[in-house]
Amino acid sequence: MSEHHIHWSHEFELGIEDIDIQHHFFVNLINRLIDELARPDVTAYRAALISELNAYARFHFISEENLMARAGYPHLDEHRDHHFQLIEQLSAKQNRLMLNDSAEEAEAIIRFLMEWFVNHTTREDRRFVDFTANTGH
Ligand SMILES: [Fe+2]
Ligand SMILES: [Fe+2]
Repeated sequence: MSEHHIHWSHEFELGIEDIDIQHHFFVNLINRLIDELARPDVTAYRAALISELNAYARFHFISEENLMARAGYPHLDEHRDHHFQLIEQLSAKQNRLMLNDSAEEAEAIIRFLMEWFVNHTTREDRRFVDFTANTGH
């Protein structure tokens, strides 16, 4: 495992099993993408791998939003909006990479995904976990 990977750490663990499993898998996908984008010989496969990650992110977001709806989370609309923005930005970056397959565009996607994982997961997703802990849902 390279030092450029995201290393799973306890601070990412939120305590809701389904969400933690999905976040862990998402980190594995990002790490795989980091390895693949570093290879010059896999241009055609790159776009497919990013599509896989995009599809998984959409699945994860729906899954998370359903848990939030079930728990009556009052910030669901705001959270859904965060998810929507992340997918929009990922799709835009994905399109840019397809138009201009360069190391810079690939790097931009990796940076974006790492920021997304660290910021959204440790801040926004944690707010939901704090809510369920306080309300006993
Ligand atoms: Fe999440
Ligand atoms: Fe989320």
